[in-house]
Amino acid sequence: MKKIPIIIDCDPGCDDTIALLLAFANKSLDIRGITVSAGNVHINNTTENTRRLVGAFNSKIKIAKGCEKPMFKTIVTAPEVHGESGLGEVVLPRTEKELETLNAVEFLSKILRDTTEKITVVITGPMTNIAVFLMTYPELKEKIEKFVIMGGSSIGGNVTPAAEFNIYVDAEAADIVFKSGVEIVLCPLDVTMNAFVEEEELLRIKSIGTLAADIAFGAINHALNFYKDTYGRKNVPMHDPCTIAYLLKEDMFEGKKVFVGTELKGEFTYGETIIDYNDKLKQPKNALVLNKINREAFIEMLYNSIKSL
Ligand code: RIB
Ligand code: CA
Repeated sequence: MKKIPIIIDCDPGCDDTIALLLAFANKSLDIRGITVSAGNVHINNTTENTRRLVGAFNSKIKIAKGCEKPMFKTIVTAPEVHGESGLGEVVLPRTEKELETLNAVEFLSKILRDTTEKITVVITGPMTNIAVFLMTYPELKEKIEKFVIMGGSSIGGNVTPAAEFNIYVDAEAADIVFKSGVEIVLCPLDVTMNAFVEEEELLRIKSIGTLAADIAFGAINHALNFYKDTYGRKNVPMHDPCTIAYLLKEDMFEGKKVFVGTELKGEFTYGETIIDYNDKLKQPKNALVLNKINREAFIEMLYNSIKSL
């Protein structure tokens, strides 16, 4: 089977961690590199989490540290969701794995300049690294197959009433990516809130009894406790893994090609994503927006992937 070459830009982060485990477990994905963003927690913590996860599960993968703040704003983080470390109570094994000396933007340019085939870029955090890359190296845009992005919402925000976190942290960066002309598959809260793990499904993952299972349990359980305490939910949505699941099994999802834009000026709506399902604005349809998931198939994929690590 032909492998899918990908780059992952992420801010681990409990659900980013599950997305990385899903990617490490499935050899149909050829991970050309990982770039780290600031978002869930400070860039040093998201980078250390990434370094240790790669060191534990696929130490050949190259990692580059990204921008420590949004393009124009101060950083907003979410330690209340992911813990100060970014991974709740999870203690990742130490590793000798070293970071690339290039920063994320230069690392992206090197990979894309050198590749003979187009590469899919998966984004599961604020889009600062990718936006700065697009502004710096527009000529390399043609080497990107598509963006598969977790972000946005047409069902209300999770960081403000209007905005989803990844967009809100750097809405200007999201605007640059949405207007880039590169093909986009978007996994907004519309679909990711239905990609949830039930408590008994989480215990089934824990029962696998491996390092990967322990890390996955710790990450998901920490996020579950946040959703229980904050929303009274007895299950926990797995936002970022939807991007990888889509690449592994597109027919697990349903969606619609529509216009997606970002509000940059609203006093209360900064970072809101406009997902124009009914084509009211008559704007170019720049994204395939996923809005339905076969949750049972998603859970089976998560379980089997974690079990295989
Ligand atoms: O809104 C959910 C997104 O924000 C996820 O990517 C999560 O990791 C946080 O970054
Ligand atoms: Ca994330």
